[in-house]
Amino acid sequence: MSAEYGTVAYGLKQRPAAGIAGKRVPFSSVPVIDLGPLRGDDPVAKRRTAQAIGRACEDIGFIYIANHGIPSALIAGTFAEARRFFALPLDEKMKLHIKNSANYRGYFPLKEEKTDVTAEGDLKEGFDLMRELGPDDPDVRAGKPLHGPNQWPQDLPGFREAVLAYYAAMEDLAKLLLRGMALSLDLDEHWFAAKTLKPLAYLRLLHYPPQPGAIDEREIGCGAHSDYGCLTILAQDEVGGLQLRNSAGEWIEAPPIPGTFVINLGDQMARWTNERFQATPHRVINRSGRERYSIPFFFDPDYDAVVECLPTCQGPDNPPRHAPITGGEHLLGMLKATFK
Ligand code: OGA
Ligand code: NI
Repeated sequence: MSAEYGTVAYGLKQRPAAGIAGKRVPFSSVPVIDLGPLRGDDPVAKRRTAQAIGRACEDIGFIYIANHGIPSALIAGTFAEARRFFALPLDEKMKLHIKNSANYRGYFPLKEEKTDVTAEGDLKEGFDLMRELGPDDPDVRAGKPLHGPNQWPQDLPGFREAVLAYYAAMEDLAKLLLRGMALSLDLDEHWFAAKTLKPLAYLRLLHYPPQPGAIDEREIGCGAHSDYGCLTILAQDEVGGLQLRNSAGEWIEAPPIPGTFVINLGDQMARWTNERFQATPHRVINRSGRERYSIPFFFDPDYDAVVECLPTCQGPDNPPRHAPITGGEHLLGMLKATFK
């Protein structure tokens, strides 16, 4: 990663390889890790799992997790809600446009977001929500940015309850993953707990229409980017289209594997670990001829949590590469850059 990281080059850190086809490689290139031992109390098995997570975070920046403990009905139900939502008439969805929210929550239509700032807008529409906070919340009363209510559709009974239940489950899963990452970094298992008391997490429902015909790499479902938060838990449907760029600069397909989530790290985690963990570039091209839905959950630390080089990720030969930053400063900076 370049020295610019942390100032301007937050997005794509190297140019992607040319061509739209992802190279097919065995799944073993992105490991599937069973999370069961992390929830158990066998310290040896737990450490082994943590080490596998740590290795994947260092080498690949992507992991599939199996045995993650999230009920399949909860996942399927959330996808069903996403389909219902995106099937609403455009003018209904536009009433919830993200620009109506002081807290970057709500709907954005096709071509509005540019994940690769050098390309055209993305061929996806989305709906963003964060922790639901009412007017009595102390941070809302204090006027803290990014804290507040979500925007909800009027005529979708059950939608709000379903996605908030999924949000809560994702938050727990992210905290479990952070326990594994902490162990892999030779930190106390609960090291991240004090930094994630009221985490700035985003749930995003996404819909990618099919992209037929010849494809210009500059206009695809989701342009090449690295995520900007700490870690992302991605649920993808059975359609496929996610690609990640390996260290050789090749685009590798990350197809859906039933019963798993895709985990990847973002820029904030690379920063926290002094770039030991990788924020790997990825993109989406939906050439399936079918509608694709995905549900990423972006997890960041608390607004006031100070993110500074972890004690176990620095030394005399490895000084911190980045200045400390708070969770809020980082996320707000990225959101302001993304949604003008
Ligand atoms: C993202 C992303 C992948 C997908 O939203 O940052 O990489 O499959 N999404 O939708
Ligand atoms: Ni992403």
